[in-house]
Amino acid sequence: MKSFFFVISLFSLTIFSAEGKPCGDYLSSDGLHRGICEEADTDYLDKASLQKGAKMFMNYCYGCHSLKYARFNRVAKDLGIPEDLFQKHLLFGDQKMGDLMTISMDQSEAKDWFGVAPPDLTLEVSLRGADWLYTYLISFYEDESRPLGVNNKVLENVGMPHVLSNLQGLQKSICKQVSQSASNGGLKQDPLSGEIITKEQCGFLVVEEEGEMNPKEFKASMKNLTNFLSYMSDPIEEERKYIGKFVVLYLIIFSILSYLLYREFKKDVH
Ligand code: HEC
Repeated sequence: MKSFFFVISLFSLTIFSAEGKPCGDYLSSDGLHRGICEEADTDYLDKASLQKGAKMFMNYCYGCHSLKYARFNRVAKDLGIPEDLFQKHLLFGDQKMGDLMTISMDQSEAKDWFGVAPPDLTLEVSLRGADWLYTYLISFYEDESRPLGVNNKVLENVGMPHVLSNLQGLQKSICKQVSQSASNGGLKQDPLSGEIITKEQCGFLVVEEEGEMNPKEFKASMKNLTNFLSYMSDPIEEERKYIGKFVVLYLIIFSILSYLLYREFKKDVH
């Protein structure tokens, strides 16, 4: 019995730790939740989104991060990008379509520059989840106390520069007076004056000077990028689901056949 409770408590421990605060200090735009990731709404069937995400990755991330378990030609094929177009617009220098997507950046040099070497991102979504990645990408903000002048709500004291600030503009983390909900579900009010009681809450992200994109466009573009990296983590998801249907069908037919055979044998026993 004791061991039973031990197993149950271990089980709940893992559930709670997984639910902890997956997105660090990120505050939802309504100010109600802290540490909960935004939804990335990935869709591996949306080829247009995957293509835009790939383009974004090659232009803004590939200079530092590799996708070393993937090959260019496989990505081009999966995403429906003609090889000649891919080669012309998305490859650099003497890279070839059959190459693995490694980069030439020297890891130890990178470590000197940023304090940490930029990790390979092929399996990033398997490791952190798509919602985490998306929230990370929209959470860079100005912070003068950091060496690069930026910080990140999801990954505190991040070593990565805000490489998309020309698109997004530079976000600021600000404080606002927010109303609080009362136990009856309404808003907390002063019992005498009836005025709504507010409390200062900090950590709201606002873009004061927009970059090339407005906040809505920027979020859509980060969803595409997340969708692409999510495909990267599991490039055969589509294929797997397709094959899965046949496996299930086979199992059903096989079960029926075995049942019929079983009935046949049983006849002889009686
Ligand atoms: C100038 C180099 C550079 C560029 C360009 C860059 N990164 Fe980074 N990135 C880094 C470094 C350095 C780190 C390690 C930061 C740390 O751990 O503090 C990092 C960390 C990350 C992480 C966190 C990994 C983890 O799980 O800890 C993600 C995700 C990431 N980058 C995604 C991207 C994406 C997506 C792009 C393109 C929009 C991009 N990066 C562009 C340098 C770069």
